Amino acid sequence: MSFQVALNFEDGITRFIECGPDETVAEASYKARINIPLDCRDGACGTCKSLCDSGRYDGGDYIDEALTDDEAANGYCLPCQMTPRSDLVLRIPSSSAAAKTAAATHTATLVDIKRHSASTVEFALGIEDRDALDFLPGQYVNIAVPGTDQTRSYSFSSGPSQSRTSFLVRTVEGGAMSGYLTANARVGDRIELTGPMGSFYLRELAHPALLLAGGTGLAPLLSMLEDLTRKPPAHPVHLLYGVTTDEDLVHLDTLEEYAETIPGFTFDHCVADPRSSARNRGFVTSLIDSSTLHEGDVDVYLCGPPAMVEAVRGHIDSLGVSPASFHYEKFTPAAVRQTADAA
Ligand code: FES
Repeated sequence: MSFQVALNFEDGITRFIECGPDETVAEASYKARINIPLDCRDGACGTCKSLCDSGRYDGGDYIDEALTDDEAANGYCLPCQMTPRSDLVLRIPSSSAAAKTAAATHTATLVDIKRHSASTVEFALGIEDRDALDFLPGQYVNIAVPGTDQTRSYSFSSGPSQSRTSFLVRTVEGGAMSGYLTANARVGDRIELTGPMGSFYLRELAHPALLLAGGTGLAPLLSMLEDLTRKPPAHPVHLLYGVTTDEDLVHLDTLEEYAETIPGFTFDHCVADPRSSARNRGFVTSLIDSSTLHEGDVDVYLCGPPAMVEAVRGHIDSLGVSPASFHYEKFTPAAVRQTADAA
């Protein structure tokens, strides 16, 4: 028996290793040829100190100089001493290059393209070595756009356990991936992708969760919801989905299904266009008040274009509410990701 440990490096690159219940995370990393920061290997220096985002473990033996009780209570741990009691997600205090590792590259075949509207295209890939591609729900990969020398970053909209991987793309005039998907893409095309990456992933829910999506920022949240169908949450989860026009709305039927299958999951959506037939017209901020934020007892996950992300952050500030945790990811038309955790 072994557990899966996700090592998330400071540059966002994530590597997954197997770790037995009597093996330290440092030993398992060494076997996988990943050099996480280590010095004494004895719980004395604190060099390996990392943050555990999810999972249970035995912290092992160490001295207070290496890890204080306060740090341990706040999720910090020592990989040279800890042994897993479940799958783990650790934030490692080094870049992947310093640990002498890198993101993995995979080859895939385009197996489906769905043009939802002029603004949104969805595509699915069959990955050749699917078993070797692990990712956390909410993460993204860099995809090489066929026929060009460019790559674009897209979040998985599928869950980590689904064999078929899918992605949502907002089409933009002159965009490399938009041009490929709308004009040239054919089922059967070969595509390369590198990853997974990013720190915008679902942590173990310690509070009610509020998921906020702007446009195709829905993709990583769909991946998180798919994961929650397999790991029913202990707290309520509410999703607010905002788009510009009616034609930008996708996957409302998927959200309906999740509302039926995930205990405690609810959602609402709004459309900014005043001519929309949606029940809520306006921006997602109009649907957020202090009760939606559980007066601060909430984990917020927000993904959308930069203006939407900033508007939501400003709105939450103006309510005088500080969420227990706040994770966000901004995407730009070139689909470059900026991920952060706000206090
Ligand atoms: Fe010194 Fe882990 S390497 S405490």
